[in-house]
Amino acid sequence: MIKYSAADDFIEKLRAQSDIVAIVSEYVPLQKKGRNYWGCCPFHQEKTPSFSVAPDKGFFYCFGCQAGGDVFRFLMKIENIGFGEAAKLLAQKLNIPVPERERSEAERQREQEREEVFQANALARDFFHACLLKSALGIYALSYLKDRGVSVDTAQELKLGFAPDDWSKLATALQKRGIRPEILVKAGLALPRPRDGVYDRFRNRIMFPIEDVRERIIGFGGRVMDDAQPKYLNSPESPVFSKKHVLFNISRAYRAIKDAGRAIVVEGYMDAIALSSQGIRNVVASLGTSFTAEQARLIRHYASEIVFAYDGDAAGQQATLRALSIVRAGGAEVRVASFPGGKDPDEVMRKYGREFVTQCLNSAVGLLDFQMEQILKNSDFADLNGKVSVVNQAVPYLAMADSAVEVDAHIAKLAERLGIDEGSIRSELRRHRGQKEISRPTAIYVRRGNDSRQVAAEEYVLRQVLESPEQFEAVAATLVSGDFQNGPRRTLAETIWRAAAQDKNLRPESLMAELDEETVQLLSRLLLKEEQGPAVPQVLDDCVRIILLARLNAEYEEYRLKADLLLRNGDSQYMQELTNAQRILTKISDLTRMQG
Ligand code: CTP
Ligand code: MN
Repeated sequence: MIKYSAADDFIEKLRAQSDIVAIVSEYVPLQKKGRNYWGCCPFHQEKTPSFSVAPDKGFFYCFGCQAGGDVFRFLMKIENIGFGEAAKLLAQKLNIPVPERERSEAERQREQEREEVFQANALARDFFHACLLKSALGIYALSYLKDRGVSVDTAQELKLGFAPDDWSKLATALQKRGIRPEILVKAGLALPRPRDGVYDRFRNRIMFPIEDVRERIIGFGGRVMDDAQPKYLNSPESPVFSKKHVLFNISRAYRAIKDAGRAIVVEGYMDAIALSSQGIRNVVASLGTSFTAEQARLIRHYASEIVFAYDGDAAGQQATLRALSIVRAGGAEVRVASFPGGKDPDEVMRKYGREFVTQCLNSAVGLLDFQMEQILKNSDFADLNGKVSVVNQAVPYLAMADSAVEVDAHIAKLAERLGIDEGSIRSELRRHRGQKEISRPTAIYVRRGNDSRQVAAEEYVLRQVLESPEQFEAVAATLVSGDFQNGPRRTLAETIWRAAAQDKNLRPESLMAELDEETVQLLSRLLLKEEQGPAVPQVLDDCVRIILLARLNAEYEEYRLKADLLLRNGDSQYMQELTNAQRILTKISDLTRMQG
């Protein structure tokens, strides 16, 4: 595939010629209200329009679900495609020919090889599938699947297969169809023989084809039908198969995941098949016990909530805990479903049926609940030592949680379960937080978190710079991007400051290429927001000063705390820090006086 970058002339041409209102209208009925157009958001369920498009700026933003971006982002989101494909699609819509880009010989070869591997995999899937359903070789395999509750219909839908018990049936069949032996090896379908030729990797196994979102076959899993080892044999890493990115069933599940707003993640092939064939469609399997940040990111394209339904045994629960910390880092909402008796979802489905599985999924508990439950389950807290140990294990999780309300509720619950006083858990939690700050002095540099005046000021400044880039110089004379609070506003500021330093265009659409989803949302909101302060220099100055004051306050705090620490450690350096703090305090009072 050809790679485009947002800076391309071609992309600029597409942008210049496309009318975002016309493009969006192909998918969403829009009505003009004021300067902008409004409609019901195609990215979430709603009855009253909160989705808006600004024709002059070329951006859209939904005030309900925060989806936003330019015309490329819109197409990427609504069609579920990458940037390159969105560009091609837009070109098609506008009737602009797509330029064939020069590609290096190496690039071309890699692309060619990937194509050939996909082709070999597709042929292999058809071969295995025919062996299962159309050949005497697959009779036993088919009855094995039936015994496990997989119907012929399901086998057909998923194109399940059977790899015959033979060293070269697949290799021979595929070579007859023009696939070169090197490609069979690259695809992981065959291995080279010591002297000459190749032999099949998968033999006498039930075959599960693994597709990417675009339904291309990237690899296979093969299961033995007895107790032989390994139980599952998977494709090795290949030009198209990267294990850490794989989610089995994603091609069939992604729409359902989007519709449901959540993905159910199970461990194994059979778990995904069991749920999916019973109508629980938004399920994917992480294939094995380690869940990766890449898999989390893939899911986050479609939904913000992930429900883990890993095996109920100890290993499965440990895997769940690990998975949770990975997902949390990626910012998804997480819940955990548990199944009785250490069983996996496939077994529970077979034994108790769909209703029961749905109940288990619906009563999935939140992250903190699960973490606390795990600690209690694995501890003996009859005596004091046990209680202390539980509190020690629980405190780091409590300290990490976002919601104070939730933490409070868990402290109460924990105190009750352990038969101890809430106060003692609270003081441990305080001690834990305090320790962290002292051992990591940089963590002292905390900004006042949710100061709405500061937020409003930062947003006003960013918006002014985006709307009229000529104001940047004046702002940058006082502020640096680090003065903006952590998160999307900081990211957006950094991008603007960086672009300015490189003499690049500061127009919003030119910044887009470098921004992550959350920052694009912020950018779009700033551009589409109706109510804003008046665009006068006085307001801009005031906002700049508010931000500057916040920086000085933070610096003052920092010096003061450093001085404090040094003093406590009996270090005479503290005088220096106090002097620094005093100097900043003077500046602050000057500025405050100016503000009146
Ligand atoms: N797995 C693997 N290699 C193995 C064992 C397991 O890749 N040797 C992966 C497979 O994707 C498997 C998942 O880990 O589906 C979960 O393993 P396990 O719970 O042992 O298997 P089940 O999914 O329960 O498989 P089955 O029901 O067929 O026994
Ligand atoms: Mn199983």
